[in-house]
Amino acid sequence: MPLPDEFLQSVRDSNEITSVMSTYVSLKRAGRDNVCLCPFHSEKTPSCHVYTDTQSFYCFGCGAGGDVITFIRLIENLDYIESVKFLAQRAGIPMPDDERDQSGRIKQRLLEINREAARFYRDVLISEKGEEGRRYLSERRLTENTIRKYGLGYAPDSWDSLKNHMLAKGYGEEELITAALISRSRKGTTYDKFRHRVMFPIIDRRGNIIAFGGRALEAEAQAKYLNSDETPVFHKRSGLFSLNFAKNTKEKFLILCEGYMDVISLNQAGFDNAVATLGTAITPEQARLMRQYCEQVVISYDSDGAGQKATMKAINLLSEAGVDARVLQMSGAKDPDEYVKKYGADGFRMLLSQSGGAISFELRKLTEGLNMDSPEGKSAYLKKAVNLLAEVNNSIDRMVYISDTAKLCSLDSGEIEKAVEARRRSKAYSARLEERRELINPPRNDPKGLGLKPEQKAQRGIIAFLFHSPDMLNKVESRVSEDDFSDEFYRRVFNIAADRIKKGVSVDLSSIGDEFSAQEVGRITGIINENNLLPYQKERLSEYIRVLEKQRDRYGGKKPEEMSNEELLEHMERIRKEKRR
Ligand code: GTP
Ligand code: MN
Repeated sequence: MPLPDEFLQSVRDSNEITSVMSTYVSLKRAGRDNVCLCPFHSEKTPSCHVYTDTQSFYCFGCGAGGDVITFIRLIENLDYIESVKFLAQRAGIPMPDDERDQSGRIKQRLLEINREAARFYRDVLISEKGEEGRRYLSERRLTENTIRKYGLGYAPDSWDSLKNHMLAKGYGEEELITAALISRSRKGTTYDKFRHRVMFPIIDRRGNIIAFGGRALEAEAQAKYLNSDETPVFHKRSGLFSLNFAKNTKEKFLILCEGYMDVISLNQAGFDNAVATLGTAITPEQARLMRQYCEQVVISYDSDGAGQKATMKAINLLSEAGVDARVLQMSGAKDPDEYVKKYGADGFRMLLSQSGGAISFELRKLTEGLNMDSPEGKSAYLKKAVNLLAEVNNSIDRMVYISDTAKLCSLDSGEIEKAVEARRRSKAYSARLEERRELINPPRNDPKGLGLKPEQKAQRGIIAFLFHSPDMLNKVESRVSEDDFSDEFYRRVFNIAADRIKKGVSVDLSSIGDEFSAQEVGRITGIINENNLLPYQKERLSEYIRVLEKQRDRYGGKKPEEMSNEELLEHMERIRKEKRR
């Protein structure tokens, strides 16, 4: 929840930057401003400037910079909110409503509610009323032990059993709605959300029950699984089912499944390292979460088309998170649950040992829709396969995959190898081009703005203008758009600033602190201060805009990264000529 503008303003006003900084560094007067030895890198001559006007600091040596809140973030190693709290305390200003403490209390209460609800569902399951649920679970061959281990339960076929139980325990209707356990109808009455379903508590790493998944007993039910809606304690995107067990596994890898039942069945069969996403496709957060616990993940999705498609997405996200993604291929069963029941733990262990790398999976996928018995099919396949094989950097791996591919097409691997090596050479050439691209358009952070090209200066200038005179946004937007910001960072700053201005919230170094890292705030401070040395006049803004317009014309509307190799070479030639002039 963002902090109110007025509150941030008063925190800043009561913490004059030089007075805060002087408790950490010794400031020396330099003209209207102050300088000091930068506390964020080691140096012998002071290059950290403290500007009274903008209430900001900026180090020309290392690029650290920002307002007083950023300074505290860096020097006390706190996050944004903690730094605001720190400064509020320093000035004796109470945090608004102590909002965050209150939200902590609400979360505690919701966890308590979930725990009580889980107890209720479990008690129903083992009671007379739980007969149907018990029958279902035993049909799915879960043992008593497994049912207890996962705290499974049963929500009876009734509109108010849970509600009445919870009200009798002293919980209120409103908080039960917040917990997503009961819903309010259009008429205003409330009713149990989960009915006639087997209940799977979703438990986080710390052992808190944060939500529920409910499985319908009948195959023809409207939704097979019903998951809790998002609540203050439940974020589907960032948790994993059964991680509370998997985090203690002795295995060096995790098994990623699609469904809760897959995970539970695998656990029952002795695989305690299985996890599943919470009813959604895998997210980058979940990939990073897995990376915290292991270096390898075996993706074990359903064998149907949807599962295979999801596998590709999982490979990409896991690889991006630095996880070694492997893929388990299954035939004879639709999912791991069915597979272990049919072929036992040994059968599944065999599949695990045969699971291949992401490349094998991708190579196999390339054959889809092609008739590999026809010359056309083979040739279409090989063209795509060669591109993929050229991406494999390890030469031994590459050899193995090339030989697999050769076998698949009944061809000589020598020929394929030649094609792959040729592809790699042309890729290396493109990479060299890429390097030169960066020379033309350096992504470096150049604190003094020296060596910046005119269009970069213009982008920085416009950003500085928006911070100084937000009312100029209309003028800016009438002539340039985000596409004219060729530098990705500048574009992001521009977009966020423009967004805030349109929403009527303030744009200053303090209020953007929760959208940018401390390092990024430093870069922005640099941009603002370098432009601060010049007067903010409309003519100057017009000049910046003109530079961007000219750039657009010159590139024919294309950014260097969008140009083909030929266009890029031409473009480089043009720049060379311009320089000679
Ligand atoms: P079983 O039929 O019980 O074996 O299910 P499964 O484990 O084979 O699950 P399936 O592959 O059908 O679905 C995988 C996961 O997707 C489930 O665990 C749920 O989290 C989610 N899911 C499945 N069906 C639904 C649905 O109808 N609604 C929602 N929201 N999620 C679903
Ligand atoms: Mn299943």
